[in-house]
Amino acid sequence: MERAKVFCFLISIILTCGDAAKILVVFPMPSRSHGNLGDGVVRHLLNAGHEVTYITPFVYKNPPPNLRSIDVSATFDIMPIDMTIKNIMDRTINIENVGSLVYMMTEMLKKTVETESVQKLLSDPKEEFDLVVAEWMFSDVPAGFAAIYNCPLIWLSSVEPHWMILQLIDQPTNPAYTVDIMSIYTPPLNFFQRVNELWTQLKVKFLNFVWLDGVQEKAYNQLLAPFIAKRGRQPPSFDEVRHNASMILSNAYVSTSVAQSLPQSHKFIGGYHIEDKETALPEDLKKIMDNAKNGVVYFSMGSNLKSKDMPEEIKRDLLKMFGTLKQTVLWKFEEKPEKLPSNVHILQWAPQPAILSHPNLAVFVTHGGLLSTTEAVHFGVPIIGIPVFADQFMNVAKSVNRGFALRVDLSYSLAAELKDAINEVTSNPRFAEKAKELSYIHHDRPVKPGVELVHWVNHVIKTRGAPHLRSPALHVTFYQKMYLDLAVVLVLLFLAGRVLLKKICAAVCSKKECSAGGRKKNN
Ligand SMILES: *[C@@H]1O[C@H](CO)[C@@H](O)[C@H](O)[C@H]1NC(C)=O
Repeated sequence: MERAKVFCFLISIILTCGDAAKILVVFPMPSRSHGNLGDGVVRHLLNAGHEVTYITPFVYKNPPPNLRSIDVSATFDIMPIDMTIKNIMDRTINIENVGSLVYMMTEMLKKTVETESVQKLLSDPKEEFDLVVAEWMFSDVPAGFAAIYNCPLIWLSSVEPHWMILQLIDQPTNPAYTVDIMSIYTPPLNFFQRVNELWTQLKVKFLNFVWLDGVQEKAYNQLLAPFIAKRGRQPPSFDEVRHNASMILSNAYVSTSVAQSLPQSHKFIGGYHIEDKETALPEDLKKIMDNAKNGVVYFSMGSNLKSKDMPEEIKRDLLKMFGTLKQTVLWKFEEKPEKLPSNVHILQWAPQPAILSHPNLAVFVTHGGLLSTTEAVHFGVPIIGIPVFADQFMNVAKSVNRGFALRVDLSYSLAAELKDAINEVTSNPRFAEKAKELSYIHHDRPVKPGVELVHWVNHVIKTRGAPHLRSPALHVTFYQKMYLDLAVVLVLLFLAGRVLLKKICAAVCSKKECSAGGRKKNN
């Protein structure tokens, strides 16, 4: 038996070896959720037998075989250090605008490329890759990594498809029925929303044209192009490089995205980061959840924002309020309060997928981060969102629009409002029903998202960039799409026609006049 197993294992290694490729995965964003998305990509690629080099700020202590991780934790320098819940509440923080985001991402890329180990990687002429997978995060510059190795590029998008990324492989989408990456609307749009989306798109396009494209081009020319020249090739233009991706893999699915028409080189892989194998609950936690006759409320503000950084009075109010609930409460909290109500349990560390998959879980109270939201849909649990910053407002607004969530604002009356919301979500069955429905849609696909990811990666490698999937729209310029050239031709024809007509008229008329005049003379 054991022998057969070993034999099978060896055979599978040999079989996968034939397909093994060298892949560079670029995820320098110093945020745990982006790190999780990168880790997910790496895990699937390694399982498929590929050899992976991984640029990440989250160092692997014991990297598995076939993985070389390159530490770029220097990118943490770009994050504001005092980003705690209390600080965000007590002063009005600047909700990120596109301009500052692009600047921040350019800075991050600079830190990444300037890291010594990355310099070594990029300047070593013996280093070759069959594919680059890079996260798109408000910057097209990482496309330059693929240009260095002259290999295909796949963008991994952490969010649902939006016009800013789709224009890199096809064209911007129509703002009348698709929304911006930062928008809180869900189509169908009313008049005001439609105008607003058009305005956003025009505004960002204008900013790109006069300013941000230049910032990115400069970054590409300074940071990455020299490595291409070092390899003895003429660096292609930034415009060529950024429009050369073979595919976009989106961390989204129609369960939570708008069913818009998409180019063939866009694929959904939302949920791929969640491990297939059931993560078991620790014994004590399992007992608590099994015995929760009135259901469980799970409260976690994610890994970046910590509950312990909330103002003292909010923490006190929350604890008191949780004590009055009939449900069992699991609170991911980095402190241990002294007097705990008997139905409240503090978790220093929370095995989130295992908690969310437990049948007694009634509601997930979350900051509305992208991954937490995806996990809620994956496991079919309703949420109460307390958005704090960045895309969380948008995620929560969309979840509310989709009918499986309520939103509560971060304020000094949080506890009271949260209590009402918990009562509403746990007593009105529509929230849980909607969550189950979305979860069904989320899982009802021909193959699992991780399998799909590996499939398209292999496809792009084997077909050397999948040129057959590229959208012809990419090479059609704006004036051609709008038939402005035809308009010009028609106008010219019209003008020429008019001139011609006038000439003919004039000729005919003058002849008449001539003959008329002639007759007069004859008289
Ligand atoms: C463009 O993409 C093709 C196919 O993926 C690749 O072979 C080529 O090296 C890329 N060119 C540049 C300039 O990145």
